[in-house]
Amino acid sequence: MPGRKSNTEMHYIKIFDTTLRDGEQSPGNTMNIQEKLRVARQLESLGVDIIEAGFPIASPGDFAAVREIARTVKKCEVAGLARANDKDIDRAWEAIKEAKNPRIHTFISTSDIHLKHQLRKNRDEVLEMAVHAVKRAKKYTPNVEFSAMDATRTDREYLCTVLSAVIDAGAITINIPDTVGYAIPHEFGDLIRYIREHVSTISRATISVHCHNDLGLAVANSLAAVMNGARQVECTINGIGERAGNASMEELVMILRTRRDQLSLDSRIVTKKIYGTSRLITSITGVPVQPNKAIVGANAFAHESGIHQDGLLKDKITYEIMTPESIGISKSTLVIGKHSGSHAFLDRVTELGYKLSKNDLKVVFERFKELADKKKEIYDEDIEAIVTEVSLRAPDKYKLLNMNVMSGTGAIPAATVEMEVDGNVIKDVGFGDGPVDAAFKTIAKITGTKSRLLKYAVNSITGGTDAQGEVTVRLEEDGCVMVGQGSHTDIIMASVLAYVNALNRLEHLKHRSVKGIYQ
Ligand code: KIV
Ligand code: ZN
Repeated sequence: MPGRKSNTEMHYIKIFDTTLRDGEQSPGNTMNIQEKLRVARQLESLGVDIIEAGFPIASPGDFAAVREIARTVKKCEVAGLARANDKDIDRAWEAIKEAKNPRIHTFISTSDIHLKHQLRKNRDEVLEMAVHAVKRAKKYTPNVEFSAMDATRTDREYLCTVLSAVIDAGAITINIPDTVGYAIPHEFGDLIRYIREHVSTISRATISVHCHNDLGLAVANSLAAVMNGARQVECTINGIGERAGNASMEELVMILRTRRDQLSLDSRIVTKKIYGTSRLITSITGVPVQPNKAIVGANAFAHESGIHQDGLLKDKITYEIMTPESIGISKSTLVIGKHSGSHAFLDRVTELGYKLSKNDLKVVFERFKELADKKKEIYDEDIEAIVTEVSLRAPDKYKLLNMNVMSGTGAIPAATVEMEVDGNVIKDVGFGDGPVDAAFKTIAKITGTKSRLLKYAVNSITGGTDAQGEVTVRLEEDGCVMVGQGSHTDIIMASVLAYVNALNRLEHLKHRSVKGIYQ
């Protein structure tokens, strides 16, 4: 590439992934413990340095998820979030203590706005709380991170006083959050430089940043920070997170990788796993990525204009600054045909990064054959959708046997459904506002369930009218919330599969001793 610098020392930026904490706490992105574990394993193979697994004091479900992740993940640090008080810190430690490399991440607001209107404390009191929290966390582990919440609206002198004090107390990472997404790049870069120049002990700690995207500047601000000496960025897959989200990991990582020549900065992320990770989050949460989103949006590598296509055919360098393959979108996406045997199929599933039990593999292979009968071309994304659906399935109380729907102009949408409930075959018919509504109402009648539909989302996997539709539903019953997924070339079948999947998982949840573990 033009302008590549040589002989410049490369610095590695630590990637602190908070998809499971800041990301998961945002509306629509809730995950259950199994889903969180899958994401954590994926983040581990993606090569993130630190996984922020959750906020253990928030709920028993959060605690259980953080503990399971801490027990499972081996290659990255596992962080638990705690406010600056003893209870939070003790609980966070309980959850992460079995991790190979646990980290306590404690935080308190430092801006006068938050001190006055939220904490109702003065600066001295907050300083004391911050120091006390770090000292308490330090009793458990040397790996303590401190965040000065709302740092970008904090008086700089006071911010440096707090940072000096927490470094003296033993914090080895100091995080500068732009909590409300207020900063602009040159100002945020300048703040990082100011901290480096005014905190005399700064070399004892890693400077981290945590930017929110309220003004669409989270990635730009994070970049300005690393260009001014920050060496850890906190980010999320697909940029999910509070309000407008957090800095998007895939964007940050690909900026560093693509422009290493200018920045002399990089990360240790295995970029080929970016796309699969993004798809995993989308399929679990049902929250689609906007098509024009950088790096992972459906159009990110689609060249529509004739001039661009002509240039690309002559030489890719004309319009492509990075290859789709570099983020894991395979060029030859047509992977496998209907005559492929289970060996070829297993190879592809393994290449895509999945480890399935023998039983799940059998079910996935059957689903693949069924799909191959209906669909001309099978893509990686199709396989991923099947694997996701099958591996997230709970033991089934309810089984769909047959379904027929009728809808059209002038007809009242109706559904005839036949199901097995606890081994008994039940058939019924029902009506609704549309074919999906009719099918859901009939299934509710057959199963005797009273769940409320909180969310219904449809995604098209790959292109074309024969593409698989991927449906995510979120149901609530008796205070328990559960996600279900289904994929099929028929969108109504995909909806029904998702609905039955959620009902089965709700049922599974009811019989667990620790309620709320899946929430
Ligand atoms: O946005 C924020 O300030 C946070 C902190 C807890 C780091 O999420
Ligand atoms: Zn945040």
